[in-house]
Amino acid sequence: MNKFYEDVKYGLSSNPKRLYSKYFYDKIGDALFQQLMHSPDYYLSKCELEILQLQSTSIAQDINIEFDEFDLVELGAGDASKSIFLLQALLDNGSDFTYYPVDISQNVIELLEAKLPKLLPSIKIKGLNGEYIAMLEQLAKHGSRPKLILFLGSNIGNMNLDEAALFCEKVRDLMNPGDLFFIGFDLKKNPFTILTAYNDRAGLTRDFNLNLLRRINKELSGNFYLDAFYHYPNYDPISGACKSHLISAKDQEVTIGEGTDRFSIQFKQHEAVFMEISKKYSIEEIEELALNTGFKITNHFLDSKKWFADSLWRKD
Ligand code: AVJ
Repeated sequence: MNKFYEDVKYGLSSNPKRLYSKYFYDKIGDALFQQLMHSPDYYLSKCELEILQLQSTSIAQDINIEFDEFDLVELGAGDASKSIFLLQALLDNGSDFTYYPVDISQNVIELLEAKLPKLLPSIKIKGLNGEYIAMLEQLAKHGSRPKLILFLGSNIGNMNLDEAALFCEKVRDLMNPGDLFFIGFDLKKNPFTILTAYNDRAGLTRDFNLNLLRRINKELSGNFYLDAFYHYPNYDPISGACKSHLISAKDQEVTIGEGTDRFSIQFKQHEAVFMEISKKYSIEEIEELALNTGFKITNHFLDSKKWFADSLWRKD
């Protein structure tokens, strides 16, 4: 069976039960996340958009100090609605680069390859559909130009601190000295502000989580009854972990798969399935992460509220 099936089976057989938020992003999930980005409660995208709209010229300058001919890899590119400002600034500077957006959603890559050349006619783009590290390995094999790797949107938040450190080390090992890594971190702030972003009034975050159950039903022949689960987010201001769970509203059994792949899972009333972590950082934690994983920080770029940081790292 496929990786999605294996991960769902493994996660739901674990104690505590868990599912993986990277599977949120099918067509419906992509659309829900797009809506969430426009929700007044979900501040992250607006803050990072402000950084890229207002500071792309300075960011591009810092990049061009290192190189002006390079491969630009964007991990989790989404609709590139924020990175487009940096791409524009780099093109304006006369940089010579190919843009490699990487995304787990084939849907997203197709939309981007159709849309971006209309907005930036001189862009060279080659979309890559797959997982981050696998795609970076593929590029490292035949790439000889310096690399700028973008990892925006607080996508790194979907890893806990240990996972993030491991990930940064893996990325560093696929970079050459002088290559740059530009990462978006959501910063620690008023805990209520953070919790509201993951408990939005319109219920988009709830639907976003429940959509994974719908996806399991559709793609893996599951029989989740969506009304029997509800969304419970919480935020720990010490660790900076904002976590989403789906709670089983009653004792129930769910069956997934067909034929010999069929398996059943028992849910107790009130039992939680851990769905997603969105880790929030302090500047000190960002600096420690960079140091511990073999990077030197070139610059931090913050929005006017100081709620979000895009941090430029260099591999020495
Ligand atoms: C796209 C991973 C940055 O964790 O904030 C939005 C996804 N989850 N609402 C995040 C998400 C719930 C988002 N990232």
